[in-house]
Amino acid sequence: DLNEMQKYLSTAETVSRDAGKLINDAFQNHSKNVMTKDSSVDLVTVTDQQCEDLIKKTLLETYPDHKFIGEESTAAGAKNELTDLPTWIVDPLDGTTNFVHGFPYVSVCIGLTIKKKVVLGVVYAPILDEMYTAIRGQGATLNGTSLSVSKCTGLKNALVCTEIGSNRESPHIDIVRDNYYRMAVAPCHSVRSLGAAAMNMCMVAKGACDAYYEFGIHAWDYCAASIIVEEAGGYCCDTTGTELDLMARKIACGATPALMKEITDTLTDITMPRD
Ligand code: IPD
Repeated sequence: DLNEMQKYLSTAETVSRDAGKLINDAFQNHSKNVMTKDSSVDLVTVTDQQCEDLIKKTLLETYPDHKFIGEESTAAGAKNELTDLPTWIVDPLDGTTNFVHGFPYVSVCIGLTIKKKVVLGVVYAPILDEMYTAIRGQGATLNGTSLSVSKCTGLKNALVCTEIGSNRESPHIDIVRDNYYRMAVAPCHSVRSLGAAAMNMCMVAKGACDAYYEFGIHAWDYCAASIIVEEAGGYCCDTTGTELDLMARKIACGATPALMKEITDTLTDITMPRD
């Protein structure tokens, strides 16, 4: 019920602010201990791990019968099976590359699924002090003010966000380049990359850009932000235009179904190995 959802949201908000303090301190003090994961462009820092430990401990101590899927727990070998049980899906620091370079678009992402459906989401950007939240059916807010997407219905009037992602191998990156080219020659108004999936999606939610798509990301990058986009009146789907799949490692979202049909018809899809 709504009371329960508000309680869950409040826990997620509080712990995202606590993790945000750790991020802000390390960001301001330039104390970033950088390591790589799958490749030389797949970065992780001690701050990512500290934040995930804090968030995981808090959520599972508060809600012992809930499940947890997190970016760094997965990297450390935890299996991230999505079941019908209440499951927190967490990216402790989305935009790690930004964080490492001092580019301020970083966020803590905390989503909750029940019966595999996203029911609430928090995206907190600690450097900008922006708290984006949504509960299913209750709208989306930024620092308490309600959000709505733009009214854009066509690619020719759209500002589109996307990312090159961390897979730079052929043929993956060739398709990413071709898709970028198709956006450019559509022509859409322009293309932007904030370097963090969730921040790109929050720009869609607030109507500052019209659409976002990316291949190769994970549920923790888009779970929380997907409900923020939807509750701001936007539309989330798979890059093929079908229903959004949290484990398919790709997303397209934007202001209107018409715009997203045009974008997903324009994109060449990349089938990713599922999470
Ligand atoms: C990354 C960001 C980025 C995307 C990468 C993701 P992380 O998440 O969302 O926008 O292009 O593919 O891995 O690793 O910083 O949490």
